[in-house]
Amino acid sequence: MNSDHEILGFVHFCTGQGGLERVEIETPWSTAEIYLHGAHVTAFRKMDEPPLLFLSSSSEFAPGKAIRGGIPVIFPWFGPRDDGPAHGFARVSGWAVAATDIIGDGAVEIRLVLPPVPDFHVELTITVSQTLDLELRVTNTSDREISFENCFHTYLEIADIHQTTLAGLQGAARFDKITGRNTHESPAEITITAETDRIYADSSPSLAVSDPGHNRRIRVAKSGSVSTVVWNPWIAKSKAMPDFGDDEYLRMLCVESGNVADGRVTLPPGGKSILRQTLSSEPLA
Ligand code: BG6
Repeated sequence: MNSDHEILGFVHFCTGQGGLERVEIETPWSTAEIYLHGAHVTAFRKMDEPPLLFLSSSSEFAPGKAIRGGIPVIFPWFGPRDDGPAHGFARVSGWAVAATDIIGDGAVEIRLVLPPVPDFHVELTITVSQTLDLELRVTNTSDREISFENCFHTYLEIADIHQTTLAGLQGAARFDKITGRNTHESPAEITITAETDRIYADSSPSLAVSDPGHNRRIRVAKSGSVSTVVWNPWIAKSKAMPDFGDDEYLRMLCVESGNVADGRVTLPPGGKSILRQTLSSEPLA
């Protein structure tokens, strides 16, 4: 247990689900939970608001398994691989705590480090306040050019997918992973009415999810990211996923910020990349 990094009233380490170590964070405005397994934020909730992150009640919490929900950290590849775990090893690795701190008038910052791997040094800084900020820093420690994919696979909690809209992607180049087709997004506000799995290139640095059921607009702001992935498994895929409830597709929408497919990052020796994502929310009316 990382008791050295505890901050009384703000940062507490405990045993979470599946016996995995969990960090519980409390600030004047919000609470959050982070598993060191995957450096995975599984909960963020502002006082007087429903949870902002969806977490499946069927999720596994076990070494070698990815947590279903919250914010999986996808690195160094996105999607399946024959020779490694889907969406990379970062989300199934045990991260170490480098530091915890209180900044400003009560925000909590925690810095996590991926155990040493060839070619990369990887750190994730999570700041919990009225917003939830994530910053993934990757340094090329090798003596050659390397490239990789990264992504915050953010599961947003919504009241009802049928009433939810997503704004900010109009005009963006869109690759539909289900049909294999390339096109450009046309509506100003996207609605989800079927299985959805899309990669948007050169997407806006600010997207908005409107959720009338919770009277809430969630904003996803990002930098250092050229790709947005939008995913909802819908009915059949939900039923086929062992770690996801049959009806849970109704209560989640993944809006993912990163650099994937043609948007992958290439770094020279010693080069650094920074991916940032900020989640905030406000009443709709
Ligand atoms: C999305 C991908 O980001 O993640 C989908 O675009 C994938 O294709 C989904 O199904 C979930 O992936 P996983 O590995 O967590 O089941």
